[in-house]
Formats: sequence, C-alpha cells, structure tokens
Amino acid sequence: MNLFNQDENNKKQNINNEKNINFSKIQEKYKKLRNEIEYHNNLYYNEDNPIISDMEYDALMRELKQLEQEYPELLENSENSPTKKIGGTASEKFSKVRHRTPMLSLSNTYNISEIEDFDKRVKKIILSQIDENKNNDENLEYILELKLDGLSISLIYENGELVQAVTRGDGQIGEDVTENIREISSIPKKLKDPVSLEVRGEIILPISNFNRINQEREDDGEDVFANPRNAASGTIRQLDKTIVADRGLDCYLYYLVNAENYGINTHLESIEYIKNLGFQTTGVFEKYTDFTELEKSIDKWHDKRKTLDYETDGLVIKVNNFALYETLGYTTKSPRWAIAYKFPAEQVKTKLTDVTFQVGRTGVITPVAELEAVNLSGSVVKRASLHNFDEIRRKDIKIGDNVIVEKAAEIIPQVVNVVFDDRTGKEIEIQEPTNCPVCNSELSHEEGLVALKCHNPLCPEKVKRQIAYFVSRDAMNISGLGDKIVEKFIELGKIKTIVDIYSLEKYREELENLEKMGQKSVDNLINSIESSKTRDFSKVLYALGIPFVGKFNANLLTKTFKNIENLKNQSIENLLAVKGIGDKVAVAVNTFLNDENNWKIITDLQNIGLQFAIDETNLEKIADNPIKDKNFLATGKLQKYKRNDIKDIILSKGGNYLSVVSKNLDFLIAGEKAGSKLEKAEKLGIRVLTEEDFEKEFLENINENI
Ligand code: IVH
Repeated sequence: MNLFNQDENNKKQNINNEKNINFSKIQEKYKKLRNEIEYHNNLYYNEDNPIISDMEYDALMRELKQLEQEYPELLENSENSPTKKIGGTASEKFSKVRHRTPMLSLSNTYNISEIEDFDKRVKKIILSQIDENKNNDENLEYILELKLDGLSISLIYENGELVQAVTRGDGQIGEDVTENIREISSIPKKLKDPVSLEVRGEIILPISNFNRINQEREDDGEDVFANPRNAASGTIRQLDKTIVADRGLDCYLYYLVNAENYGINTHLESIEYIKNLGFQTTGVFEKYTDFTELEKSIDKWHDKRKTLDYETDGLVIKVNNFALYETLGYTTKSPRWAIAYKFPAEQVKTKLTDVTFQVGRTGVITPVAELEAVNLSGSVVKRASLHNFDEIRRKDIKIGDNVIVEKAAEIIPQVVNVVFDDRTGKEIEIQEPTNCPVCNSELSHEEGLVALKCHNPLCPEKVKRQIAYFVSRDAMNISGLGDKIVEKFIELGKIKTIVDIYSLEKYREELENLEKMGQKSVDNLINSIESSKTRDFSKVLYALGIPFVGKFNANLLTKTFKNIENLKNQSIENLLAVKGIGDKVAVAVNTFLNDENNWKIITDLQNIGLQFAIDETNLEKIADNPIKDKNFLATGKLQKYKRNDIKDIILSKGGNYLSVVSKNLDFLIAGEKAGSKLEKAEKLGIRVLTEEDFEKEFLENINENI
C-alpha cells in the first residue's frame, strides 16, 4: 500500500466516522422526537388531557416524517413509528374488539396550497390510470364536509338492531363501549329498515352542554374539562353509564363502511341512505366540481363554524365517486381519496410578565403564566397554565419573553412558543420554587412523578380546595359554605382541616357577623352540615379527594371492600384485582389511606358520625323498590325538591337519571313551566308525573327517611 492510498483511506475513514457521528446525532434526535410524540399521544388519546395544541402536535409529527423521509435507515429496526400508526391504545377498562375494517385516519394540512396539491394529485392519479377514451377528470366531484372534533366511533347494526359500538383505539383494535353509547339519544337503537351495516361518525359534546358541565364542575371545586372533545372522550370511557346519560352527548355520522355493498355509488348517496335509516348527520355535504368554488367555501367556513353548537376543527374534502377509490388507494394510515383541512387556531403575541405558582387540592404546584392582557377569540386573556416544569424547559420559556398564546378548541389558553427573535438577553430564567408559595413548607417531587408537591397537610390553600371539594354537590352536598367563609375561618385559625367543618356550630356568632350571612343562612348551613353525616360511605370516600377516585371508583371500592378499615388493609395487588381499578387508582388509594395525617382525619370524621361503612340494610332496600332500574328525568320548576335532590333520591334507590327526553325515559317529573321536554315526552307517550304523583307512587312505600 503506498502512502497516497493510505492517505485516501484515512480520509475515507474520517468521512465515515463523521457520518457515523452525524447519524448517531440524528438517531438521538429521532428517538427524542418519537418519545415526545408518544408522550403527547398518550395524553391525548388515553388520558383525555392534552397539553399542547393540535397545531404544535402536527408540527412535531411533520418533523418526524421529514426525518424518516431523509433518513429511511431510521425506520430499519422499528416498525412502530407514530407516523405509521393511529391514535391511542384501547383501555383495559373495556373489552377489546378488532375492527372488521380498520378505522383509518385522514391526512391533514393547515395550508390551502397543500389542498390544491391534493386536487392535482387526485387528478394525476385518475388520469394516469383510466381508460384513455373517457376522461374521468371532468366527472370528478368533491364533497366538502365538516370535520367534527370529537371521538370517532363505529356502530354495528344487525337486522336493524344496534349490537355493538367500538371506539377507534389504535385503528385496528378499539374498546367496546356499547352500553354507554346506548345512553345517547340521537343514536338509533333500531333502524327504519332491518339492514345489517357498520357506520362511522363522531361522538361530540355540544358546546352548550360543555359550558353547563364546566360551570357545575367549577361551582363544585372540581377540575374543569379543557375542551368539549376531552369531555366527550372522558365521558364515553366512564364505567358509570348514568354519568354518560347525564352529560348529554350527541353523535353525527359521516361514513358507511363498504357502501358499495348496498348498491350505492357515491359518498353523497351513502349519506342520504344513512339519514333515511334514522342516523343524524351534520347536513353539511357540499358538492363541488370547481375547485375554486370549493376554496371559497373553505374561506366561508372559517367564520361560519363559530355559529354551530359543536366544535369543528376543520373541513374534510372527499372524492364523491366510489369507483375512483380503488384507483386512488390508501397509505398505511389514511385514504388518498380524502384530505382534512384544519382551521388554524387563533393566536396572538403577548408578553409573559411573571410566573406564579398555584397549589392544588392534592398539593401539586402548577406554574401559571401571567400575561400582559390581550384579546383572543372574543375574551381577554391574562393567564395561561404552563402545566409543569418539564413543559417550561421543553419550550424554554423565560420571564419577560414575548410568547404566542393560542386558544383553539381549548377553552383554556395555551402558551404555544416563545418568540426567540424578540429576546433581548434580559429575560429571566424561571426557577422551580423550593417552598410552597402559600405555607412556605418545603416542596418535593414524588418519586417518579413530574409534579412538584406541597406535602403540608395544613397548607391553607390545600385545605381550602379540599373543603370546596368535600362540600361539593356530588360529595357531601353541604350548601352555604363558600370560599370566602372558609378562607376567613382558616385565617382565624378555626378551620385547620376538613374535620373542623363539623365544629362550625360553635362559632354561630362569628358566622352571623360575616358579610351577607344572616341568622337564616347560618341555620341552613348548620343544618346542611348536620345532615351530611347521613351521606353514604361511597360519597364520603369520594369527598376525601383521593387522587383519581371519582364517583364511580368510590362506588366500586365501597361496594367491594365494605368499610374503610378493610379498604385500608388491602394491598395494591388486591386493589388491582377489582375490575375497573387501574394502577394509578390502586397506588393512590393505598398511599392516601396509609398516610398518618389522612388516617387521623378519617378517624376523627368517623368519631363525629360520618359513614365509613356500607349500610347493608340500605342495599337490601335498593334491591327491591319501584325506582330501581327505571329511567327518570325532572323538568320545570319544582316546589318541594331541588332537581338535584330528586336526582340523588333516584340514584340512591338504584334508578337512572337521564338528561334528555328519549324513548328510553320511563317517567318525566314535571313542575311548573315545563317546556320542550314535557312536549317531547307527551309526543313519545312517556308517563308524566307531578311531584305528588312521584312521592305517592315511588316514595311512600319505601319506609325510609330520605
Ligand atoms: S372520514 C377513512 N369525515 O377525523 C376516513 N372523518 O383525522 C374516515 N372526523 O378518524 C374518516 N369529521 O374521527 C371523516 N367528516 C368527517 C370527519 C372525520 C371528523 C375525524 C374522524 C377521523 C379523524 C381523522
């Protein structure tokens, strides 16, 4: 080997080394990006709690796709890239079902020029494939329809009867949510013709219902849903179908699987066909042959969509003629005969002036961005949650930064990114606080968790939030104990923990002297506190505010383990053995009950007389009474009861309380000025009761104090 060759070899070696180093950097970047996308997939699809906007998510996905295109070797040892698969994983809570036809996604864009590329692509593929004699291009029709922002669902009917409803899951395997779906009145349980078919659409929560539910949750001191989509998705995956009935979900259908088998030739005809069978559609299916006209309509919908009572995150453009579908084909994730155009979220630039820290009921510290007030989508935005410190580091947010704030489908504004070009160098790093902003006790991370926590059981802010939760309607239902009173009494040192609520009677005078609290309101409050002692074990367990223990889990745990001592003594494995209880709940219950401070509160409450064991005699009564398994709804102004009291009575006797009038309803209890619900019930031939009828027929024979 001569010197020259050796030199060449060294050079080659160096280039190779450099390549390797570069490639390993790319690999590292790729791995990080994939992990990040998987993390957000899990938050969006499985936890119903996304923390970044769709636009940010799509940008990450685009970056990943680009890397894969540039470096196909990245994909060599991994078939599971998020670019190749759809959505979440089916939850363990429901049985899993393999879709007979995979549930695909849609390719999407925020860009009109990419919509034009889609049109060109479609035309090119069609032209290159068809018989040269006839030019199908002229017959090319597009349907423009709304892209609903909800949870996709597949409904299966046999001989006209609804037999199964399955969520999308990962596109191949979804969750069987049939029982919950039956609670949605706009989904027909029986079709007008006894046909067998599979039809797909979107479960949504109307915006009006979303606002009502969030208002109730806020009043009750519960966390609000970030947007209607999360609320819909979280609701459908509840194990308790009375909750589903209560929230008023709705469903719009937009796709008939294997429509050609029904002698149908176009998408538009398939929509007409399912409409005639009794399915609800949005009614927006616009036909275009001229792409310029289609684009004009896209423009129109930017604003028009705001008049709808459901969220749309874009529009879908579909080729109308099924004969072209095979020619156009599919990618692994989506059909080539359709594309989604997503509406850009409304964004605005503002200055982040400070970061404050909020203490939650469980002690979790949430950083909050304080913003220079700006107008965004019709409301003034001054604050935005920054979620946690990982999020701050990921986005490299500093105090003094100009940031882009967005309010998309989310009702809660988000900080999307920092405008790095505006940086002056004077911005200040955001420091994790070491001490609680309220009680000053030392903060720490719980093992393996991102959240920073205040562990002081007497932290006034925690106690205030715990009390708001404890007294809320679905928990102990104590009325008249608002935040102001609690704050004042915490300040006076008369409330230290939730136990002290039961000693408020001693401070009658102070209570009466408080603003707006007359003698009567104090009497009501004291009575309400006293009567809360009869709330059943399941409500008490819920009221304790154990993380992840909502109404349904509280019910499940109390029914299974009967009393609090028994529940405390269960190992995590035993808790996990209960169907419906997952890892997070099991660990939270075990940790909470075995914490010395919590247990002291529980034993104190027990000594005061709260129910910490299931009342077996009550269960027997539930087993046999005329309310059990019947569906009720109350409407209009009632004289004797509050609507929520009636609801509680019905639920406590094993009946169901629905939120809408449908043929599933057995009885409508109507008070004064009952409007459209009464009309609808009469039309459907549903029995209408007065309050007195209800008492006579359903309560008098139940020999029990309610
Ligand atoms: S068609 C084979 N039409 O968007 C394609 N999907 O991003 C089937 N979506 O999974 C879907 N509105 O959940 C279609 N008018 C519409 C839609 C729609 C909302 C959802 C659907 C789909 C997702 C894809």
